[in-house]
Amino acid sequence: MASIPSMCVPKIKAESVKQFLIQNKVFRFGVRPDHSQDFVFFPITQKLSPILLSKLKKSSSKIKQSMHTFPEKEPLQSLNLKDSLKNQLSSEELSHLISAYDIVGSIAVIQVPKELMNRKSLIAKTVLKINHSIQTVCMITGGHSGKYRIQPVKLLAGKKTTETVYKEHNCLFKMDIAKVFFSPRLSFERARINDLIQPNEVIGSFFSGVGPYSIIFAKNSNTQRVYSVELNPSAVKYHKLNNKLNKVEEKVELLKGDVHKIVPKYLKGTCDRIVMPLPETGELFLDEAFAALKPEGGMIHFYTFAPRADLYSHAVSELEKVAKKFNRKIKIVRNEICRTFSASVVQIVLDVSVSEP
Ligand SMILES: C[S@@+](CC[C@H](N)C(=O)[O-])C[C@H]1O[C@@H](n2cnc3c(N)ncnc32)[C@H](O)[C@@H]1O
Repeated sequence: MASIPSMCVPKIKAESVKQFLIQNKVFRFGVRPDHSQDFVFFPITQKLSPILLSKLKKSSSKIKQSMHTFPEKEPLQSLNLKDSLKNQLSSEELSHLISAYDIVGSIAVIQVPKELMNRKSLIAKTVLKINHSIQTVCMITGGHSGKYRIQPVKLLAGKKTTETVYKEHNCLFKMDIAKVFFSPRLSFERARINDLIQPNEVIGSFFSGVGPYSIIFAKNSNTQRVYSVELNPSAVKYHKLNNKLNKVEEKVELLKGDVHKIVPKYLKGTCDRIVMPLPETGELFLDEAFAALKPEGGMIHFYTFAPRADLYSHAVSELEKVAKKFNRKIKIVRNEICRTFSASVVQIVLDVSVSEP
């Protein structure tokens, strides 16, 4: 095969960079990634823009963009969904097809627009046929909602289960995607924060779900202790199981309940770093984040939704209000978009350093 653009990535960063390339629509499907002893080569559709490249390089200076000759192997089964359906759907139908989908372990989670509802079974069976690692295909039937932020799904094809095991950053996560929140799209963000953790830090992992942030930190960095706080009984059940599966029970303490109640009772003044991955209502928990930090301060990773037209001013003013109330000084050390939510709304993250005035 001729030489094509690729990203050369240290193996330890491979999963998160792959997610990042997929999300930014530059991952080239249909060419099998290659590897050397320490690096993985991902095929990409075009050279990355300087902004995307510098974002990636912040996670590891060893990440490089290069031309790479991918070895000829039997063609990948994961063909493009649109190509695979072109003889079975009309061009009008193909124009409505959403060919990108999330994969959580052995489950593909697809979106079917209303124009293609009567074709959903064909689409689901095609996903199964073209991707041999997938055993189940589910369709999203609504947005994330309720206090547990669960997304309703309907089984369409394959094994009749919504339980699976997903792998990320050397860790395994068992979960039932119909009963808990989970997004593989935040993989890059989890790796980014993991790399900021200093030896012996105590971390408050609010809204911990089935444990992705907490377990990745406990397993891949030198934390002293991670306190997970989670409300959803199903997420708590899987988090407990995942602590065992990843052998981090000694380091991760799982506190079941509401952040509003758990922090004043158990976590006041104990943490060096807080992660707050609840973008819908995170700002209602800023008091708890400030209260959980050690008296000398620390770092808060605050996630929220924001309109593209005005990304940071609301979040910064909320942070300043709470800082004033707690008599703390804050410095925004980083702010960026970490996920697109809709055409006009994005999820942002602010890394906030908190110190004594
Ligand atoms: C957006 S999800 C993030 C889950 C996980 N951190 C992840 O990235 O997969 C938010 C989680 O916070 C939990 N949650 C919502 N309100 C909560 C509260 N007041 N106290 C503790 N957990 C809460 C939900 O049940 C849900 O699992």
